[in-house]
This record gives sequence, structure tokens and C-alpha cells, in this order.
Amino acid sequence: MPSNGYDAKYLAVLPEEIVRCDYGCGDPSRFVLEGETVLDLGSGSGKVCYICAQIVGPKGRVIGVDFNQPMLDLARKHQKHIAETLGLHNTSFRKGKIQDLQLDLDEFEEWLAANPVSDADGYLQAQAEADRLRQESPMIPDHSIDVIVSNCVLNLVTPGEKRRLFGEMFRVLKVGGRCVISDIVCDEDVPEDLQKDPQLWSGCISGAFREDLLLKLFEDAGFYGIQMIERTNGPWQTIRGIEFRSVTVQAFKGKQGPCFERNQAVIYKGPWRKVTDDDGHVLERGRRAAVCDKTFRLYQREPYRDQFYFVEPREPVAIEAAKPFDCRGSAIRHPRQTKGLDYDATTEASKCGPDGCC
Ligand SMILES: C[S@@+](CC[C@H](N)C(=O)[O-])C[C@H]1O[C@@H](n2cnc3c(N)ncnc32)[C@H](O)[C@@H]1O
Repeated sequence: MPSNGYDAKYLAVLPEEIVRCDYGCGDPSRFVLEGETVLDLGSGSGKVCYICAQIVGPKGRVIGVDFNQPMLDLARKHQKHIAETLGLHNTSFRKGKIQDLQLDLDEFEEWLAANPVSDADGYLQAQAEADRLRQESPMIPDHSIDVIVSNCVLNLVTPGEKRRLFGEMFRVLKVGGRCVISDIVCDEDVPEDLQKDPQLWSGCISGAFREDLLLKLFEDAGFYGIQMIERTNGPWQTIRGIEFRSVTVQAFKGKQGPCFERNQAVIYKGPWRKVTDDDGHVLERGRRAAVCDKTFRLYQREPYRDQFYFVEPREPVAIEAAKPFDCRGSAIRHPRQTKGLDYDATTEASKCGPDGCC
């Protein structure tokens, strides 16, 4: 795998066999913040989880999910010792498929041990039990995670299940939560014969995302503010002229919800003449765009907040009194709408620089 360059200070407390077990292609842990609840998809040896555990500290929590028993055993083997060394008991490892984050495979295995399956009826009963577990004790509940990280795993999910995986990521995140995913992408479609090669599958080649389609999967699942925050320049590997490299993508959840009119406007600073957001609003450089209250507040957060000036109305509109806002178009807000039709002030010139400007 391409080298990922973890911060050495977080590796110092980890046992050698975890440090050595290096199957990642980036370092999403660098984007995690203190106090956050983190979910690591395909946690492997637990290295990224144990790094995140140190970053989030005592107020945060880290959950690693992997379906591979030897990997889980390795991650769990050192759990007590690392927790005691750090004085932090904030990490857990769960057995599950990342495209099915409701089903706790440890719990399901317990049931299977007591109810061995030997025929089709048993299989159907087991399926019903799995559904019951998903509904009654989901491994990762809805809206429970601040940030999902993953390092070189999503490509390993079969093509038919990738959309389900993105749906699950969206489900478990809190509103305002985000994904930071490092994975392998390619610049052209992987030919079918390479997709069927089992060795290339485990080598993170066959399932690699075409780079534009990786971003599209986030978009289709309902994320916004989707950004490649890292992309290696040179390829990590080239096969038949197709380049494979590592990228880290960040994507946010939280653009869904009702739209209310509070007479707010935003002015896109540039440098592009115009840009389009994930809801289809077109924002022209320097023009006052009419936005709903939800969009106004969304743009005040990462990753947008440095790109706009925010114009509040002179007379605030209480949210309880606000009318629905039709968010489908891209309307321009007349300055009179924010100042008020009867605004008629004439004032003395105020100083605009340390020595005045005119
Ligand atoms: C390339 S390794 C990366 C491990 C770890 N993220 C790291 O950076 O070292 C892929 C890991 O993902 C796990 N994995 C692959 N597909 C998975 C799936 N569908 N559900 C759960 N875990 C999966 C594997 O068992 C393995 O531990």
C-alpha cells in the first residue's frame, strides 16, 4: 500500500505488531477532533482507532468495525494494555460488515451457536433473527457518529453493495457529521478481467473507485460539501496504463430539512465566476443570493464559511414566523429586501481605514 505517514507521537504507545500491520493508504486520523465520536470502517489491527483514541481524548469515543476475526483478535488483544497506558477507556471493536452496520456479528454468532443451521428452514430462521437484531439492537444506531474514518477499505466492498455502504454511512452519522475516507482510486475504469482477479481484489486494485465516481457516490447518498482533501500526485501503481493512487475525501451530512424564508442573503466571494452547491443553487460571484435559513447556516460552517459574506436582514424574522422558502431555484436578493422597503437613512461618512479612506 502507499505509505501513510502517521504522526509518530501517536504510535509510540502502540505494540510493535500493531505498528507493523500497515494496510492503509492514507491517514484520515489527522482530520479527527477532540471530543468526537469516531467510527473506523474496516479497522484491521486497530491502529487508526488507537491513534484516534488519543486525539478524541476522554470526552470522545472510537468504534472500530471489521468482519475479519484474526484482525479483530489482534486489535482486541492489546485493548486493555493500551487503555491502561493511556488512561483512556474510549475504544471498542465490533464484528460486522461495513455495508450492514446494523448487524452485530458477535451477537448473531452467539445466536447461531445456540441454534445451528442445517437446513433451509434453519437458514430462514437465522435470517429472521438477523433482521430482529438489526431492528432491536443495531450495532451502530442512526445519527450516533460525529466522524466516519476509513483507510483503504471501501474499495473492498463488492460493486453491488457499494451503494448500500454509502447509505449506511449516511444513516449512522449525526446531522452535521462528516466522513473522512482514504482509499484507492483509478483514473480510468478497471477492465472486467482485472475486476475478476482475486489477487487484485485483495490488493485494492479490482474494486478501486474511478475517482470522479467515488465523489458521485457521496453525492448520490445525500452528502454535501464533498471535497478531495488529499490526492497523491504520482501513481502508487500502474496496470496497463491505468493509474491507481490514494485520495482522502471529506463529505458532510446535514443539508436535508425544511427551508424557511428569513430574508437572509449570501455573497459568494469568488474567484470563480459562479459555483453550484449540492442542492443545485447557483451562486454568482459578488451577487446577493437569496437563501433559506438552513442554507444560510450551512454556509457558515465548514467547508463553505470562508467563501461567503453573510447578509442578515435589518429586521430579523423569527423562525416561528418564517414562511416556507422554495429552495429549488437560485433567486437574487434585492438589497431592499434585507434593509426593508422603508429604510431611508442618510448618515455621516464613517472612517473606513486607520486614517480614513476618502
Ligand atoms: C486493507 S485492510 C485496512 C486495515 C486498516 N484500515 C489499516 O489502515 O490498516 C482492510 C480491512 O478491512 C476489512 N474489511 C474488508 N471488507 C470489509 C467489510 N465488507 N466489512 C468489514 N470489514 C471489512 C478487512 O478485514 C481488513 O481488516
